[in-house]
Amino acid sequence: MTSATIPGLSGTDTAPTQHADLLAWVREVAELTQPDRVVFADGSDEEWDRLTSHLVTAGTFQQLNPDKKPNSFLALSDPTDVARVESRTYICSRNEADAGPTNNWVDPTEMRATLTDLFRGAMKGRTMYVVPFCMGPLGAADPKLGVEITDSEYVVVSMRVMTRMGTAALEKLGTDRPFVKALHSVGAPLAEGQADVPWPCSDTKYITHFPEDREIISYGSGYGGNALLGKKCYSLRIASAMAHDEGWLAEHMLILKLISPENKNYYVAAAFPSACGKTNLAMIEPTIPGWRAETLGDDIAWMRFGDDGRLYAVNPEFGFFGVAPGTNWSSNPNAMKTVEAGNTVYTNVALTDNGDVWWEGLEGDPDHLIDWKGHDWDRESEEKAAHPNSRYCTPMSQCPTLAPEWDDPQGVPISAILFGGRRKTTVPLVTESLDWQHGVFMGATMSSEQTAAAEGKVGSVRRDPMAMIPFLGYHVGDYVNHWINLGKNADAQKLPKIFYVNWFRRGDDGRFLWPGFGENSRVLEWIVNRIEGAAEGESTPVGYVPTAAQINLEGLDVDSTDVDESLKVDVEEWKKEIPLIEEWFEFIGDKLPSGVRDEFEALKERLHS
Ligand code: GTP
Ligand code: MN
Ligand code: MN
Repeated sequence: MTSATIPGLSGTDTAPTQHADLLAWVREVAELTQPDRVVFADGSDEEWDRLTSHLVTAGTFQQLNPDKKPNSFLALSDPTDVARVESRTYICSRNEADAGPTNNWVDPTEMRATLTDLFRGAMKGRTMYVVPFCMGPLGAADPKLGVEITDSEYVVVSMRVMTRMGTAALEKLGTDRPFVKALHSVGAPLAEGQADVPWPCSDTKYITHFPEDREIISYGSGYGGNALLGKKCYSLRIASAMAHDEGWLAEHMLILKLISPENKNYYVAAAFPSACGKTNLAMIEPTIPGWRAETLGDDIAWMRFGDDGRLYAVNPEFGFFGVAPGTNWSSNPNAMKTVEAGNTVYTNVALTDNGDVWWEGLEGDPDHLIDWKGHDWDRESEEKAAHPNSRYCTPMSQCPTLAPEWDDPQGVPISAILFGGRRKTTVPLVTESLDWQHGVFMGATMSSEQTAAAEGKVGSVRRDPMAMIPFLGYHVGDYVNHWINLGKNADAQKLPKIFYVNWFRRGDDGRFLWPGFGENSRVLEWIVNRIEGAAEGESTPVGYVPTAAQINLEGLDVDSTDVDESLKVDVEEWKKEIPLIEEWFEFIGDKLPSGVRDEFEALKERLHS
């Protein structure tokens, strides 16, 4: 039966769709969760105004000073709900073996039963929003659609910034297009007459994925990565499983366009773990004369081979959900210009006395602030004014360096893939892989010191293949093998070259050896020149590494011995990596592809010869 009537549907009694599966699911969820009303989100300006006003009244949002930050809002979360919760994130594949050793797993039937209990009556006293969205261009031949059902207005307005959301996506769904079901509740039902809190959430949290069913269910958290289900949950965890089945890649990568002094375009994709510089590199302002850069994406890339045999990348997102601390007019002027244009939601940054926002690392030296916990803050305060994982959520279209082809369903042909992490020692500023398989080995053994973007001990080194550890929808060994196979089936001449970068190497006193940020354009220039066969590099046991003389350092004001140090391949340091890689490969187990194992043996031999 295809009837568009939904009990409790707000305004009219008729849903704005005839999609039978969608209607059946909406009805089923409404019956289970018992919201006061059901609303289909349309993505309009009117809806934005209505929901942001509602959030201001509810105390979730504070409207910022329109002279400083037009149409922008600050949300302060519950202090326990500030980051992705990896310990509560599950891949509920039918077989435990398919989730692999890096994911939490619970049998899908059991998990569904647990969640059904939690969702029973979970939306009481709240509005249930039905949020249709599309990841990637709406004009794609096979648009990647989803519908998020949520009881959070914060989620609805954030989804409007981060995805192509509302009526256009609903129209694409038609009556029968497949879509990813993404169910979310903050897990805080309201009893009759019970007052709400500014940031409802629950101590019980579940971020669950059912890869075979292409389904997401998230409970208890309002934080972006846990609650904006189009992002990490769909575009990485579910999409990585889809990509594995269908022969493409869903990656935690920025997409950057470089324009050389000869006006030639080069597209680069780069995978760094959370809070390791993707957003910065995506919006880089090159410091070297003649070079320009444009932005296509700062967090996620979907890549597939085109008819011409090249690898094409699309950014599935529509906005930036960037780390605020450290962002400023010198480290990332383009991010600053993007948020200054307004229409931005800030979460867990500090509020200034004149209704603007502030965070550690931003210009200005405020005497007094309201910190992210809502307390008075002054320069003597010992606590940080902004949470280290505080974020801005801002429309991509406002980015002054946005590439004109950003919404092209074709995507852009990738010439280089960069892997990188945060390592104080050992890993040189830049290393070119010997070939695709060696590049996959580099990606598979990537390591980084843990940041504040997820709960856990900040600073400890963990292996993070292709920066995907928190985002893999299936077995890490199968994932690495998928990368190997894509390379085997492709024309080697047309494959992107793979590089490993480390902006974070330090000297004995803890200072960064490389100035980073805009100066990274010097490394990008070397990379492009390597692609063109126009730059020298030294053959080392770990790959091709330039000497300081082989990169363009003109006009760079740093100690040249620091640059030497940043590029050093220290065989003794690398020998210490070997048992760590060994341990990591044992952890991955039998599914580690033999090609990657071969690369490891070859590395050991080169280090010992
Ligand atoms: P997610 O959005 O969580 O996936 O992370 P991201 O990779 O986008 O991280 P982001 O670009 O926001 O990185 C922020 C952190 O990296 C800040 O602490 C920056 O100061 C630091 N950072 C970025 N680029 C550089 C660089 O070139 N050198 C140094 N030293 N730090 C950098
Ligand atoms: Mn990310
Ligand atoms: Mn980012």
